[in-house]
Amino acid sequence: MNDKKRLKLLKIESKYYDIQRKELKAIEKQVDLSDKDILDVGAGIGRLSFPLCQTAKSVVALDTDKALIKHYKEKKKDNLIFINESIQDYANRTSRKFDIIIAAWCSNEFLKHLKKLSHKKTIIIILSQAPNSEYDKIIRNFVPPPNPKKESREASVKLWKKINININLNFPNKKEAKNVILSDLILWWGKKLTEEELKILDEKLEKFITHRKITLTENTKIKFIKLR
Ligand SMILES: C[S@@+](CC[C@H](N)C(=O)[O-])C[C@H]1O[C@@H](n2cnc3c(N)ncnc32)[C@H](O)[C@@H]1O
Repeated sequence: MNDKKRLKLLKIESKYYDIQRKELKAIEKQVDLSDKDILDVGAGIGRLSFPLCQTAKSVVALDTDKALIKHYKEKKKDNLIFINESIQDYANRTSRKFDIIIAAWCSNEFLKHLKKLSHKKTIIIILSQAPNSEYDKIIRNFVPPPNPKKESREASVKLWKKINININLNFPNKKEAKNVILSDLILWWGKKLTEEELKILDEKLEKFITHRKITLTENTKIKFIKLR
């Protein structure tokens, strides 16, 4: 897939996700973000990086996806820089330390690289899937469940705080809901649905329609970790 198409799918995929910014509000309740140097690992489209830079001193949005370079250039902010590099390479080459490191909806493997980027008071914030969301149940009709081995590695980290929140994905109609789900499956699983699977998706979504609109819940767990 070329960069232009990929960026388009990334924008579609995040269009209806956490419009009310519940994730960010939940983080802000626990941690003071003002005047902090923040690293957003696997930042994607900058769903968190852009609002974060309104409060923080500086934000580094780090992501391996080169389709994002153009996007961050267009949305340029003085205290936000995009670095197109892997967490592994970045942690190896920089001596920079961050006050807050956020890894939202990313691989748990990232955790082992974060110590080098943190100082004594750094807080690491991990956002990931909590079980039983309506959105995930639909997705799991077409792709395998998460790897339990990876989950257990994540559990071995010492927690400072953990909270669970519920987010609604409010789609204006079924077409938009389908668009987002199909983009999600292609982007993160490289999965294109067959005719048969598209019918299943249609049926599953049908149950959630009220006055043409579709609302699906997504459950997020937010873990606050201090590594030192
Ligand atoms: C599911 S997205 C999460 C995007 C964003 N954090 C959010 O919550 O909207 C995961 C992101 O991690 C990036 N990624 C994957 N491997 C990476 C690595 N080794 N280092 C940095 N970013 C990586 C992907 O390109 C992708 O944009």
